[in-house]
Amino acid sequence: MIGSISPPARQRYQRGLEGLVAGDTAISDIDGEQGRLYYRGYAVGELAAERTFEEVSHLVLFGELPDARRLREWSDELGRWRQPPRAAFDALRALPVHAHPLAQHRTMMAVAACHIPEAESSELAAQWRRPARILSWTAALAAAAIRHLDGLPDLPPRDDLGYAANFLYQTLGRIPPAAEARAFDASLVAQAEHGLHSAALAALAVISTGADLGSAVLAGMGALSGVRHGGANQTAFEMLAALDGPAAARAWARRAVAEGRRIPGFGHRVYKCPDPRVAVLEPHARAVLAAHGMARLWETYLALREEIESALAAKRIHANVDGITGLLYHPIGLPPSAFPIPFCLAIQAGWMAHCLEYLPDGAMLSPGLVYVKDGAKD
Ligand code: COA
Repeated sequence: MIGSISPPARQRYQRGLEGLVAGDTAISDIDGEQGRLYYRGYAVGELAAERTFEEVSHLVLFGELPDARRLREWSDELGRWRQPPRAAFDALRALPVHAHPLAQHRTMMAVAACHIPEAESSELAAQWRRPARILSWTAALAAAAIRHLDGLPDLPPRDDLGYAANFLYQTLGRIPPAAEARAFDASLVAQAEHGLHSAALAALAVISTGADLGSAVLAGMGALSGVRHGGANQTAFEMLAALDGPAAARAWARRAVAEGRRIPGFGHRVYKCPDPRVAVLEPHARAVLAAHGMARLWETYLALREEIESALAAKRIHANVDGITGLLYHPIGLPPSAFPIPFCLAIQAGWMAHCLEYLPDGAMLSPGLVYVKDGAKD
């Protein structure tokens, strides 16, 4: 009977733990029926329209939007960590250029974590010193990993640019136009938190063992890379980019649905209605595509979306955030394999917030399993 649960203690559980409530949170409120997403009581659309990632990461982590003084302090703290240890960049040079940038990024982060400037400690005060360092180190390392795809060396940060614009500068080697920096910033805000999704759960499982916040974020990065999760924005864009205009998109969608294919960029575990982040990012994607003479790609996306949403209406499948972010990142100049990276940079604010919220008296996460002889279910 070791490791099993005796019959009286058995619970009902759903495939993929669907519907399981694992705790309380003050960080976000998600309504999957109405398509609403709030961070600490603020609607995501309102935040993406008016706030920067610096402000929203502060909100998600510390529970309130910063006033001018606190914003200066938080921005300074983020700025102080923009230069990760060189050892992480040296490690990148040893990696094959064709390795996925998310894997390279994760590897660099693991190396950087071995050079943290204070002794490993799971004390709460020590954990709270880590978010700024993690948010800024990961952005610089991610930019270097993306440049490595083209064999380009890393670039030093620019103190005069905010988090979003500096990441684009360090990645692309040019200061982005204001509208693109703003659009990119809005995408970070829209993806900064999403409850206890798979990657957040992975991070929470790690922090619950007494490990440090960096290890928890590394676990989240691994979980996020899957094609059902953060990796979907790459596959969704590659699928769309292969379609030759709206008519081809409609025909392809009809065939894909008839064949029962799982279409990236559609469907969501929580939203059984339009994903609110799609509407938030729509005007940005449309405008940036138009500015780059890529309006046809937008029309193709709309045609695909309309066809799939109408064909799969009975299953309540709608376009999700991962189907639209690539339409923003592509014209800005990121390669498709790099698309999961901005999602990762943004959502780690949420992972860390959940870890820090859980920590004070959180027990080690260790659910049971029901033993079934020879894998047979009764
Ligand atoms: N395309 C076509 N059909 C889909 C679908 C999609 N993207 N997503 C779900 N479905 C269908 C399933 O085939 C299944 O149909 P069935 O009942 O006839 O077997 C039904 O909807 C339920 O699917 P299930 O996998 O149980 O739903 P889920 O809530 O666990 O799925 C996702 C959530 C995200 C894993 C799923 O929608 C998916 O794989 N989407 C594509 C990847 C993606 O975009 N991920 C990013 C999410 S933000």
